[in-house]
This record gives sequence, structure tokens and C-alpha cells, in this order.
Amino acid sequence: MWMADSDEANSQDWPDTPPPTLALTLGDRLREAVTRLAASPRLQAWAGRFPLTRPLARQQMRGLFDLCAGFVYSQVLYAFVTAGLLEALRAGPRRPEELTRHSGLPEPALRRLLQAAAALGLAAPRSRGRFGLGLRGAALAGNPGAVAMIRHHRLLYGDLADPLALLRGEAPPTQIGRYWTYVEGTGADAPAPDAVQAYSDLMAVSQAMIAEAVTRGFPFRRYRRILDVGGGTGTFLEHVAQTAPGAALTLFDLPPVATAAADRMAHKRLGDRLRCIGGDFTADSLPSGHDLITLVRVVYDHDDATVLTLLKACRAALDKGGSLLIAEPMSGRPAGERIADAYFSFYLLAMGPGEIRSPDAHGALLRQAGFGRITALPGPMPDLARLILARP
Ligand SMILES: C[S@@+](CC[C@H](N)C(=O)[O-])C[C@H]1O[C@@H](n2cnc3c(N)ncnc32)[C@H](O)[C@@H]1O
Repeated sequence: MWMADSDEANSQDWPDTPPPTLALTLGDRLREAVTRLAASPRLQAWAGRFPLTRPLARQQMRGLFDLCAGFVYSQVLYAFVTAGLLEALRAGPRRPEELTRHSGLPEPALRRLLQAAAALGLAAPRSRGRFGLGLRGAALAGNPGAVAMIRHHRLLYGDLADPLALLRGEAPPTQIGRYWTYVEGTGADAPAPDAVQAYSDLMAVSQAMIAEAVTRGFPFRRYRRILDVGGGTGTFLEHVAQTAPGAALTLFDLPPVATAAADRMAHKRLGDRLRCIGGDFTADSLPSGHDLITLVRVVYDHDDATVLTLLKACRAALDKGGSLLIAEPMSGRPAGERIADAYFSFYLLAMGPGEIRSPDAHGALLRQAGFGRITALPGPMPDLARLILARP
């Protein structure tokens, strides 16, 4: 019922039992037995009636329904934000008819959108037919990075319209791929300033919550000279400057981004403490003389070959006894699961050559690049960024 014609053509009739190429372990067999039972419509009907299993059965049903409806929920969220309702309700409760001019939507459409937003916790009914912000809406109103990502997701939703074509590598060029201008390679010429501005602005506004988490989870004050590679327009180093007041800071990024960083950071009163250097880490050597190099949300943008070039460049630029810190979402249990293995994995698929890696996969690349002591650190917000510290 949910599948379009072209999707039906893609569905397969799988044999009941897989070919006996690799023997299943005892644990696998037990899990398979439980899965078969759980997939039985008769058992599901029974579990829904039996008092002890009913809560679990309902929880599974709700989870399944949320997955089915997730795209619609995202569209409600997108409409709520882009129609200006988040800002309007933040200012105070309103009746739908008071919001028509602000949102550009006729009253019945507004009522429908507000009702849907209320069902998702973004809005909440108030007295006399008014709506205010719901608790989830309030959390969003205090998080400009999340609001910017929601607006940006319009491109992603378009690119994910045919996920199988994307997975097969048969989709036309994606909007997300065009947005991140460096993913197709930086080429001989530096990108034009306007080609990097949109993504640099988005990174700056979403960086605040990452920087807050990473600086809480790592002792930057132990280091004297810190280099942030792919540092964007400097938001991360701005936070590091506060937690490591004695450290000299260097930002390295593509030339137009480094120039934008220097302009932006000129107002931050860091004086001589901060240098911004333009270059291409796939072609140029990195500035030396640092006891800590950071890669924040940089590695996952690139394929293994580019990452290896980058890690070797970091290894070569580090002082003796220096460390490399990687901070980004990572794959695998327990923290990665949803946001890394589902959201970021498909975002990066739409973007191009990058991928979400497990801490082990990072470790393997780090070892190939000449790092020996590799430690995964428990970050304070592992959904957004897990940390790996590596030393030669
Ligand atoms: C996803 S952004 C992350 C920015 C910042 N670290 C943050 O977390 O907000 C990746 C950054 O890497 C930079 N970058 C990509 N390819 C690069 C290259 N070949 N040389 C230097 N910087 C590069 C981009 O310009 C961009 O600023």
C-alpha cells in the first residue's frame, strides 16, 4: 500500500532461509528465533491483548508508526519554522487568525499546521483558541543551530526523494553536493568567497553546541599551541580560547574561508593569539609548531584516500609528543545508532564521497597515517560528537 510502482519493481522475493555460506552462531540462532516469533501476526495479536506484553507491543507499534510518519513530521516541522510560527509564538500566544499575515497562510491552513505542530509538541493550545510554544518548540527556539539545519534540510529532502537511486549511485547530481562546494575536490583554483559563504554560515551557527560539548569534554588548557584544521570561520577556536586562555591558536581552512575567519575573528579581541591561514589540506602542508591539532566535523566529509592524506599531513605537522583530536558523530552502538548510522550516513550519501565511521575505522586510518596511541574519549554529547585522541 505504501510503495509506489517503481518501488515495487525494486522489492525482492527473498528465500525463507539464507544460503548456508557462513554458519550462524548460537546467539544469532536465538535472536532469529525471537525475531520470527515477533514477526508472527498471531503472536502480535496475542501480545497486544496479554497484560504483561501489552506495553511492549504498544511501544513497538508506536515506534513503527513514528518511523512511517517521520517524513511527514519533518515536513510539519519545516513548515512551522519557515512560515515564521516559531518566532511568532515565541513572542507570545496567538490565535490562528492573528497569524495569517505573518505566515502568508490562509486561516484554515494555519489551523491545520498549528494543530499538527501541537501534536508534535512544537506548539501547545492556550486559552480562548490561542496557541503558544510547546516544550519542544521552546527547546528549538533556544537553539539557532537547529533552526538553521531545519531550513537547510529542504535540500536534503529533495535529494532523498529516491533513496535507492542514491544508494545505487544512479541519482542525478544532488543539491547537498552542490552546497558543499569542496566535496568534488578543490581543484587548482581556490573557491570563490560566495561559494563558501552559505556553508560557512551554517557551520558557524551549528558549531556553538558542538564547541560547547567538546570544550567541556576535553582538557584544552593542557596545550600551548593549538591548530584547528578545517576550522571554518573560527567559532570552535573562539570557545577554545576561553577554556585555554594561555594557548596560541591557528586556524587552517580553504583561502576564502580563512579570510572570512580572519575578518570575523578580528572583533573577538584575540589579538596575536590567533592566526588564520588559507590552504588546501589535500595539496599543501599544514603549519607546524603545534602540540594539538583538532579536526572537528572534517573527517566524515571525505573518502578514505583523502582522509589518509589529511591525517598524514597532521602527523607531519605535529610537534614531537603532540596529539591529534578528532571530534564528529561516529557510527556504532551505543551512542551512534540513530543520528550517526541513519541521519548522518544518509546526509553524507547525498553529499558525496564522505562517510560516517566507527571509532575502529578511524583507528585503522590513524594507524595507517602513523599514529600509534589511539584513545576513544567519552564526549559529553556523543550523539553530536564523539572524540578520538591520537598520538604518534
Ligand atoms: C563541515 S565543515 C566544518 C567546519 C568546522 N570545523 C565546524 O565544525 O564548524 C568542513 C570544513 O573543512 C573545510 N575544508 C574542506 N576541504 C578542505 C581542504 N581541502 N582544505 C582545507 N579546508 C577544507 C571546509 O571549508 C569547511 O570549513
